Amino acid sequence: MTPPARDAALAALITREDRATALLQAIQAGTIKPTDIPAAQVQALAHHKSVKLAALARTALRSVIPPSRAEVTATFQPSLTAAGDAARGHTIYQGRCFVCHRAGGEGMAVGPDLISVKSKGREALLTAILEPHKEVAPQYIAYDVATKDGNAYTGIVARDDATGLSLKIMGGAEVTLARATIRGSSSAGQSLMPEGLEAGLSASDMADLLTFIEMLK
Ligand code: HEC
Repeated sequence: MTPPARDAALAALITREDRATALLQAIQAGTIKPTDIPAAQVQALAHHKSVKLAALARTALRSVIPPSRAEVTATFQPSLTAAGDAARGHTIYQGRCFVCHRAGGEGMAVGPDLISVKSKGREALLTAILEPHKEVAPQYIAYDVATKDGNAYTGIVARDDATGLSLKIMGGAEVTLARATIRGSSSAGQSLMPEGLEAGLSASDMADLLTFIEMLK
């Protein structure tokens, strides 16, 4: 089938439980490759309202389901005890954290200054990095704001009053929007800090990053 036809066929298959089950069984049997199922449909199947179907999907599609936060946490356990190299951690901070966190006099002040968390302990730091949505103070919840002229901003609310809204966005800039220019705003109640910052890092890289934070002065 052509890709559009295949997507339509898949969509038709997964709207009904018996067909979705047949599809997943064909994947398990090796007739269809898990990589042929688009990410959105993988998500839909893995979170299907039928508990039985969802369980089958998690087995059949295991190789293409993004790792759960619990799995990621398990992967990075060795970084809790490994000795790290602060200089290498500094490079990782500059590549992945600088746009939102100050640390040792550099970086952008969107989230908290990392010096304020240096004594929290590795386990708490690691959880904060791997599971940013687990605990979020209200002032750090991300808002999406759309303006009437067609722009969209995501940031944390720095000021919100009758005249308008100020949003602090990644990179440290503050955007001020007059009330009359705003079309709408929404929030999923999640941290502005995204999940997945650990992508491509090894447990030893993470130990370097944690060491860098712990040694901040
Ligand atoms: C897009 C912006 C953004 C990026 C990028 C980002 N953070 Fe965050 N971070 C935040 C915000 C906002 C908070 C505060 C809300 C929360 O706790 O989730 C936060 C919270 C934290 C906390 C918890 C602080 C506390 O008070 O407990 C830690 C630790 C942390 N970040 C470390 C990092 C590290 C390390 C990186 C880079 C790998 C990083 N962050 C990248 C925005 C960001």
